[in-house]
This record gives sequence, C-alpha cells and structure tokens, in this order.
Amino acid sequence: MKVVTSIPEWKALRPKLPDSLGLIPTMGFLHEGHLSLVRRSRAENEVSVTWIFVNPKQFGQGEDFTSYPRDMDRDLHLLEGERMDYVLAPAVEGVYAPGFQTHVHVDEVSKPLEGVSRPGHFRGVATVVAKMFCLTQPRRAYFGQKDAQQCAVVRRMAEDLGMLLDVVVCPTVREPDGLAMSSRNVYLSPREREASTVIYRALQGAAQAYRAGERRAQALRQLMLATLASEPLARVDYAAVTDPGTFAEIERVGPRGLALLAVKFGKTRLIDNIELAE
Ligand code: PAJ
Repeated sequence: MKVVTSIPEWKALRPKLPDSLGLIPTMGFLHEGHLSLVRRSRAENEVSVTWIFVNPKQFGQGEDFTSYPRDMDRDLHLLEGERMDYVLAPAVEGVYAPGFQTHVHVDEVSKPLEGVSRPGHFRGVATVVAKMFCLTQPRRAYFGQKDAQQCAVVRRMAEDLGMLLDVVVCPTVREPDGLAMSSRNVYLSPREREASTVIYRALQGAAQAYRAGERRAQALRQLMLATLASEPLARVDYAAVTDPGTFAEIERVGPRGLALLAVKFGKTRLIDNIELAE
C-alpha cells in the first residue's frame, strides 16, 4: 500500500494507473461502514484509492471540524488489512492552496433537510468531491446510503457536469443494535449511546407501517416522532418522509420513499434513513 500526501506526487502517479480505478472518499477514523465500501471497490476495480481528508469546507461555524476524530495510524493499519492499493491523504493547504476560489454548488437537491440544518455543507462536499474526482479520475466512486442526500448531491453533480464515472451507493452498515456506524458515534456517552438506538427503531417503525399499507407521509412522520419522544435524551432536528430522488417532502408515498432522521444526543448530531418499499 502506498500512502501519498503530496498532490504533485499524486498527479505524476495517476497517469501510470489503469482506467479501472475505484475511489473511496472518506474523512478517516474508519469503521466497518467505510470498509464495506473499500471491499466493494477492491472487488470491482483493478486499483483502489482511499481518500482521507477532513474537509474544512463542509463544516459550518460552531461545528466539529477541529474536534472531528482523527487517527491516521489506525486508518492505515485497517487499510493495509484490506490490501488497499493507494491512500491519498493530502494536507488542507494541498487541497485548498492560497488563492483557491472555485466552488461547486448543486441547487435543488442540496436545499432541504441537511441543507437547512447545515447551510453550506453540501457546497463544501460537492467542491471537495469534484476536486478528488478530477485528481483521481475514478471509473467508480463508492458512497454510503447512510448519507443518502449526499449520495444524491454527488450523483446530480456527476451527471450535470458530465463526469465519466459511476457513483456506486452501498448499504448502511449497522452496529448489532441497529445504530448506523459513524465516526461521530465515539462522541456519545454510554447513556447517549444506549439512547441512540431509538433512531433505528423509529425508522423501522415507519418502514413497517409503510409495508402494512400506510401511505400518508404525515402519519409516518408522526409515528417516528412518537417513538423518538419516548427517549428523553433524543432531540429531533428533523423527521422527514420524502421522494427518494428529490428529497422533497411529499403528502403520499408512492411505490418508493425515504424516511430520514437527524437527531441530537447531547452535542452529537446523528443522521440515518430507511427506504420505504414493499
Ligand atoms: P465520511 O463521513 O468519512 O464517510 C465516507 C463514506 O462512508 C461516505 O460515503 C459515507 O456515506 C460512508 N459511510 C459512513 N458511514 C457508513 C455506514 N454506516 N455504512 C455505509 N457507509 C457509510 O461522507 C464523508 O465522509 C464526506 O462528506 C466525504 C464524502 C468524504 C467528502 O468530504
């Protein structure tokens, strides 16, 4: 496994690598969710590159950029174990050199939900993902369904800008009790960690009600809110039932929908979602 931290070094290297390159974009502090993307990329491409970069542009003021968990040694050890080919881990100044002034903004799909709670977040995500796509020229790039709206933003950007790659979305990997794996789960106190299982229970409740025939989005939302209300530590940021393509809130769910939650436990904000399907 080769670790590259210098962008000029990477630029010299990329032309020597095959077209069949899989990219796994991450902010590090890797867990089994990330590793599921790594394994899929390893299986589908000749060469795989894991990107590790805590991207300052996608954190808002007062968010956790400085305290975001980092452990490069551990990440590299895990990636060695997966027989990763390349790790691209640039410094902030390498990605955003003085004078940097180009940003990518994806309009509509960036607006609701995370877009309301975290203004500017998806602009930061789209900008860094566009930059890493340009640098690595992947044939396929791997993202997790846990961040469903992020997947939609990246898909839209790739489609709109004519980027020659497949955006591959992989299923959410969960802890045995249902909590979606996330680098931010380490922030949770033991009591908050217990409480956090309410998120998946609420989502499953909505999916079950949908399968039992409930199509009114408002009723499905209320059901999730009622479950969340049973947990005193849970502070709801949003509970939404949307069209899975646009993330626009809907009145009635069609053959497919998405239920999404953002919930705070103490200072930790967690997001998760579940597909509504027969
Ligand atoms: P990060 O939160 O590190 O996540 C990297 C990738 O792993 C994302 O595509 C995310 O959806 C996926 N992922 C995280 N938890 C997962 C889980 N439990 N199951 C499956 N996949 C999971 O998302 C980002 O970083 C950044 O926004 C990034 C795209 C790297 C841009 O900076």
